[in-house]
Amino acid sequence: MSPSMIPPESDRVGRADRPLTIVIDGVELRGVSGQTLASVLLAAGRSQWRTAPDGAPRGVFCGIGICFDCVATVNGVPDIRLCRRPARDGDSIATQTRVFEGEL
Ligand code: FES
Repeated sequence: MSPSMIPPESDRVGRADRPLTIVIDGVELRGVSGQTLASVLLAAGRSQWRTAPDGAPRGVFCGIGICFDCVATVNGVPDIRLCRRPARDGDSIATQTRVFEGEL
């Protein structure tokens, strides 16, 4: 279970969530400070946000910044690994279908 799904009042560690909102392809999603962009998407039920050159859907594969399967355009900058990028309030994500540099 994602930590974002545990209500703060039930979290034994104790935390003060700072909510944030991101937008992916025009759809608003809510998360909390400390999540990566990929974790906000996964917690919202989205597991794919890129299309590989062969048409296959892509999302998180390694989750540690190695495979580049999770890239998307963030605030106009292409090829951002969403598993490594902390979510910031107001981030705007656009899914990618083009080949990124790592696939050439
Ligand atoms: S999931 Fe592998 S780099 Fe992000």
